[in-house]
Amino acid sequence: MPFDDKAFLREEILQLKEQRRAIILSHNYQRDEVQEIADFVGDSLELSRTASTIDCDIILFAGVTFMAESAAILSPDKIVLTTEMDALCPMADMIRVNLPRPERKEFPGFENPPSFIFPRDFSLWDIKKKYPGTPVVAYVNTTADVKAESDICCTSANVVKVVDSLPDERVICIPDKNLSLWAAKNTRKEVIAWDGFCHVHERANISDVEKARAEHSKALFMAHPECRLEVLEIADHVTSTSGMLRFAKASAEKEFIVGTEIGLLYRLRKENPGKIFYPLREDMVCPEMKKTTLKSLLRALRENTYLITLPDEIRIPAKKALDKMLEIR
Ligand code: 13P
Ligand code: SF4
Repeated sequence: MPFDDKAFLREEILQLKEQRRAIILSHNYQRDEVQEIADFVGDSLELSRTASTIDCDIILFAGVTFMAESAAILSPDKIVLTTEMDALCPMADMIRVNLPRPERKEFPGFENPPSFIFPRDFSLWDIKKKYPGTPVVAYVNTTADVKAESDICCTSANVVKVVDSLPDERVICIPDKNLSLWAAKNTRKEVIAWDGFCHVHERANISDVEKARAEHSKALFMAHPECRLEVLEIADHVTSTSGMLRFAKASAEKEFIVGTEIGLLYRLRKENPGKIFYPLREDMVCPEMKKTTLKSLLRALRENTYLITLPDEIRIPAKKALDKMLEIR
C-alpha cells in the first residue's frame, strides 16, 4: 500500500499512538485530516491546560513550535514532540530577549504591512529597562526564553482577565499590538504595547467586513483579537478560536462571517451542521499551521522527531509565567 494513502497513514498513526501511549494535541487551525485524528483539538489556552494535566507518555503537538514548547514547559516528565521543527509563528519571532529582531519577512499576499514603532535594535530587555518594575504579560505566541523573562503569560481567550489580575496600574504586553490594544480598550489599566502582529489577521480590514456584510446581510461577524483594532470595533463578537465555536453554537442566528484563520471553519461546520460559515477573507491562511500533515504525524511517532527539550534555566521561569496564567479561571 502506498505510503501516502490516507487510510493507511491513519491506521499506522492510530496503532503507534496506542503502542506508545501518545496523545495528539491539535490547534484549531490545523488541516482537517490532522484535526480528525487528534485526541484533542482546541485553542491555545485549552491546549495548554490539556498539556499540563493529560495522562500519557508522549505528547505529539500539531501546531507551531511555541505551542509544543509550552507543552514541554508544562509537562517536563513527558516526551514532547513537534511535528515540524520549522513551523514557526512569525509573530513569536518579532520580539527577542536581548537581540535585535530579525529582518522583517515578506508575507505573500499581504500588502501594506504596518511599520514597527520600536527601533529594530530594541529588545525585551530594552523595554523592561525603559519601564522598570512594570510587569510583562507575554502572549503565548512567544519563544520559551521570552516567556522566561516575563511575569505572566496570556492567550487570546484570557488577555483581559490576565491584565486585570495584576495589582499594577501599568503593564507591558508583548508581542501582538492588536491583542494589546484590545486589552487596553477593555481594561482601566495603561497597556504598553509592542508592535508585533500576525500577518494572517493583520491583512483583514474594514472594507473586507463591509463587503462580507453586504454579501451576507444576516450573518454575525466574529473576529479574533489578533485582527486590527478598527476591525474588532465593528465586530459582533471578539473572541479566541474556541470562543467562536462556543458563540456560534449558542447563538440563535444561522449565519456567521469568520474573522480568523480558515482552519477553524472545519470544526465550525462539523459542529454546527444547520449553520453557514463564511470566511472573512479566503487568504487568511497560516502557512506554518498547514505544514503538519498525516505523514509528519506518522514520522514523528516512528522516529521520535522532533523532540522538544529546554534547559532548566529557561523552563523553570517560563513555567512560572505559564502556571500563573493557568491559575486564573
Ligand atoms: P487561539 O485562538 O488559539 O488563542 O489562537 C490564535 C493563534 O493565532 C494561534 O497561533
Ligand atoms: Fe502565528 Fe498568526 Fe500563524 Fe497563529 S495564525 S501561528 S499568530 S502567524
